Amino acid sequence: MSLFMENLISNRLGGKMFGKDTTIYKFEKIKRAKRAAIQENPGVELIDMGVGEPDAMAHDEVVKVLQLEATKKENRFYSDNGIDEFKQSAASYMQKRFGVTLDPATQVNHCIGSKPALALLPIALINPGDVALMTVPGYPVSGTTTKYLGGEVYNLPLLHENNFLPVLDSIPADILKRAKFLYINYPNNPTGAVATKEFYEKVVKFAKENDIAVISDAAYIELSYGDEPLSFLSVEGAMEVGIEIHSLSKSYNMTGWRLGFVCGNEHLVKAFATVKDNNDSGQFIPIQKAGCYCLDNPKLIEHTKAKYARRLNMLAKVLRTHGFTVNEPKGTFYLYFGIPKATVSGRKFENAEQFCDFLIREKLISSVPWDDAGNFLRFSVTFDAPTVEAEERIAKIIDERLSTEKYIF
Ligand SMILES: Cc1ncc(COP(=O)(O)O)c(C=O)c1O
Repeated sequence: MSLFMENLISNRLGGKMFGKDTTIYKFEKIKRAKRAAIQENPGVELIDMGVGEPDAMAHDEVVKVLQLEATKKENRFYSDNGIDEFKQSAASYMQKRFGVTLDPATQVNHCIGSKPALALLPIALINPGDVALMTVPGYPVSGTTTKYLGGEVYNLPLLHENNFLPVLDSIPADILKRAKFLYINYPNNPTGAVATKEFYEKVVKFAKENDIAVISDAAYIELSYGDEPLSFLSVEGAMEVGIEIHSLSKSYNMTGWRLGFVCGNEHLVKAFATVKDNNDSGQFIPIQKAGCYCLDNPKLIEHTKAKYARRLNMLAKVLRTHGFTVNEPKGTFYLYFGIPKATVSGRKFENAEQFCDFLIREKLISSVPWDDAGNFLRFSVTFDAPTVEAEERIAKIIDERLSTEKYIF
């Protein structure tokens, strides 16, 4: 990089030091280990359990809506803060699925996927010196923007002994005083935990007592197993203190399409819409129309959900036979489980990153390690397998490769 440009980069990106950081981050380490493993083991299939994106395409009928709408001249414009039809579908969906009543005109706004919404929301809430309460391990996007804005992040660990729910009474008083929002995400990536009604009620009380807004990230809400999924907004008082972000990415196999919506507290939705209006010009109208089709037909999700439940069960069984303690998740498509301390053959693992590296290089099984609150590995069951037989083949390969060691926990 030229000296000229080095002097111009903002302090929030490191100023002159931007691009010179030699730390190798987790995902880059995984990428490098995968490359090395493939090179050293030509012809051996790398089993990738690390991908956090659905393996399937969006449903045919959804693709057809996009195709048709893309041919209409009236759909070519900027959509700004979104078309009314999408707001209406989102509001009806929230009513039908979660019993949440919203005014589509004032309490719903589309977003170009939930990631940008999470990145933009701190602009509506954070002044320099303010604090964002973020759960770890987790999706860090709102925390990153908070830091860009001169705010601070306070991490709330999600521990197994607390069912991966944050302990809100543990937050120091000086942090609480400066805290502006609490980010929660259930069903949770990566732990697979879901929230209870009691927990959400506690969150509402906490928010009211401490004047803290709640951002509920519901990206995986439709991938809930067992009990009916619970929206934070369905809990009494939640609408006063928070908003919820929904995404079509995971439930409708539409990650690349980029569509979601923010809903809930009218004032915060309005503030979000103002920030968004100054950042983007809205998602392509035909994509919003295809999104309406999805939200009007949530039954589309059932097949996808059954597929993930089957795969989670299959893999949990395999891992258990090798001594891992694995609880099948109540939501998401992730298995989150503790790592062994060592192998009988003498390998030692101080953290999940080391165990993940071992699995990639020696077993050609890729995953994602989490060392933020305990040492856990995340297997995503979104691997590419078009049939049940293909899924069973993958499970069998994992079983065989794990069988060549004995693990000590
Ligand atoms: C917890 C969580 N929130 C939000 C997102 C972003 O989803 P999207 O931007 O595709 O809606 C992800 C993606 O992996 C996620 O895991």
